[in-house]
Amino acid sequence: MPPVIVTAKTAENETLIIQTPTSGLSLQGRIRIPGDKSISHRALMLGAIASGETTIEGLLLGEDPRSTAKCFSLMGAEISKLNAELVRVKGFGLGELQEPRDILDAGNSGTTMRLMMGILASHPGRFFTVTGDNSLRSRPMSRVVKPLLQMGAQIWGREGNSLAPLAVLGQQLKPIHYHSPIASAQVKSCILLAGLMIEGETTVTEPALSRDHSERMLRAFGAKVSVDPETCSVTVTGPAKLQGQAVIVPGDISSAAFWLVAGAIVPGSELTIENVGVNPTRTGILEALAMMGADIELQNQRVVAGEPVADIFVRNCGQLKGCTLSGDLIPRLIDEIPILAVAAVFAEGTTTIRDAAELRVKESDRLAVMASQLNRMGAKITELPDGLEITGGTALTGTDVDSHTDHRIAMSLAIAALNASGSTAIHRAEAASISYPDFTATLQQVCG
Ligand code: S3P
Repeated sequence: MPPVIVTAKTAENETLIIQTPTSGLSLQGRIRIPGDKSISHRALMLGAIASGETTIEGLLLGEDPRSTAKCFSLMGAEISKLNAELVRVKGFGLGELQEPRDILDAGNSGTTMRLMMGILASHPGRFFTVTGDNSLRSRPMSRVVKPLLQMGAQIWGREGNSLAPLAVLGQQLKPIHYHSPIASAQVKSCILLAGLMIEGETTVTEPALSRDHSERMLRAFGAKVSVDPETCSVTVTGPAKLQGQAVIVPGDISSAAFWLVAGAIVPGSELTIENVGVNPTRTGILEALAMMGADIELQNQRVVAGEPVADIFVRNCGQLKGCTLSGDLIPRLIDEIPILAVAAVFAEGTTTIRDAAELRVKESDRLAVMASQLNRMGAKITELPDGLEITGGTALTGTDVDSHTDHRIAMSLAIAALNASGSTAIHRAEAASISYPDFTATLQQVCG
């Protein structure tokens, strides 16, 4: 029996109501997920700063890449109407960026703001102002401002240059070797992008390896990038010459994660998720679910435009078991912790998540919000300063919960609702459109 799934809309917000049947729900089918968010941002940005034409197949049509496209259009890139089939970007060419006549608005997107800062700061003589929505204006920007200032950038911002709105006056920067205190692909990518126009070597060393999409794509566009996996260091040697490329964006494993967990926890489910990016810097979710005893199989593995891709099959095989997630695994599943918390609620035993304090400065404080919203449904979750302790095996009951305008929270709560009794109302569920505009349609599809 399928659940009742209804969206109630007001002028500003949407509430997603999921009423599960008392028995007989199982998820079935083959599904496609939207394009990878990280790769979509990078394809638009590199396309904009390269010479010639870039074509992008499979671009994510969520609000975040739309913010990137708007910002770079304001600086002279010619970007065709966004669609998932083919987007054409005519770049302005490295160094030729036009000073925008308006504020650059990154919306809800940390990736847009942080990566773009590296490009802006390194374009001498141009002035930029950068802002974002309520959430983004409270997220830390000092993590990119600090290394850029070390490179000679001129940046001003609220609270000691740590919060947007930010103002930037582009400069001729100098190369640095930056030891980042956090494993962050946004910080790493910002510095590498800033290094593109500088003569010499710009290096970033991280405490653990973060996603490497920038390194892969920069190489494909013609930049000289070297990686030392032993020390988690990446070097770009400038000045680079970037030439437009044909980019094919695989499906986003962070979006696939909702169906992987749904398939693993809803009895009798069997799902195949097609065309998922399985870059090893992103597959921590597969390792975590394997530790929890989920039945997951990678099929049809291939490499598409420099990124590993597979179809992923998941089958419910009884109750999952709790596990510990910490250390170097965390950057490889950083965006999947909300949905892994849902998996843990339905697992036998305790799941402990540590070393994940970064979640407190995402689109929301994801540790606090996941703990409070799942506990409202009957879960037993204790917040730790850098993680969560989840006592699994308690039954959930549907109630009113809130996304806190965070896309991954909205979708994680919807998956939790599938295994809860009664009716769950997820308020401000429209947040899902940041990374997954068709989430509700796919939810209806897999529920039959
Ligand atoms: C991203 C990097 C990660 C991730 C974010 C996207 C990227 O952030 O959480 O959703 O595209 O570089 P951090 O670099 O802050 O870890």
